[in-house]
Amino acid sequence: LRLGVLASGRGTNLQAMIDSTKRGDLEAQVAVVVVDQPEAQARERARQAGIPEFFVDYGAFPDRESAERRIISILERHEVELVCLAGFMRILTPVFLNAYKNRVMNIHPSLLPAFPGIGAQRQALEHGVRYTGCTVHFVDQAVDAGPIIMQAVVPVHHDDTVESLSERILEQEHCIYLEAIQLYLEGRLELEGRRVRIHPEKF
Ligand code: GRF
Repeated sequence: LRLGVLASGRGTNLQAMIDSTKRGDLEAQVAVVVVDQPEAQARERARQAGIPEFFVDYGAFPDRESAERRIISILERHEVELVCLAGFMRILTPVFLNAYKNRVMNIHPSLLPAFPGIGAQRQALEHGVRYTGCTVHFVDQAVDAGPIIMQAVVPVHHDDTVESLSERILEQEHCIYLEAIQLYLEGRLELEGRRVRIHPEKF
């Protein structure tokens, strides 16, 4: 399965994908990486792994849709089958989502629908929840919504900071993102309206 990864920053989820595909644990390959920030560390991770990477400067386009068309053309050129958002800090318009209908995944550092948007870990701490976690979901028009594929629960400790909690969540992110991709490539995910059914084998 050919993956296209969209990122804006650090790229640890990207790194987890790269490592797992190189080890052969995940029967996929990261075909291309696209970033919207010139300084994104994800670029260096791609380069280190010999993966083509592209910076798409949204500011250089008249509107979001035009920037997305540029991204789509890069993904198409690299024959991407599944798009993985990994810390990509932009909202996709219907132009992109229709081009990759039901083929865009995202990871979010909370148990959605709790704490959508930015600062999910801080929101969890402020709310005082005992457990939070992370969610891999298919992307649709709404922000941090879309059919849920995988979730992992992470405990909140009384002395947690945003950093310590984020780190504990991140460890789980790296696991469930890979698991979700593996289920997808095994053809085991079926969309049933808002819900995703996980089949025991390819259906
Ligand atoms: C992760 O916490 C992810 O859940 C959120 O953005 C962060 C990206 O981290 N969407 P990284 O760039 O993969 O290290």
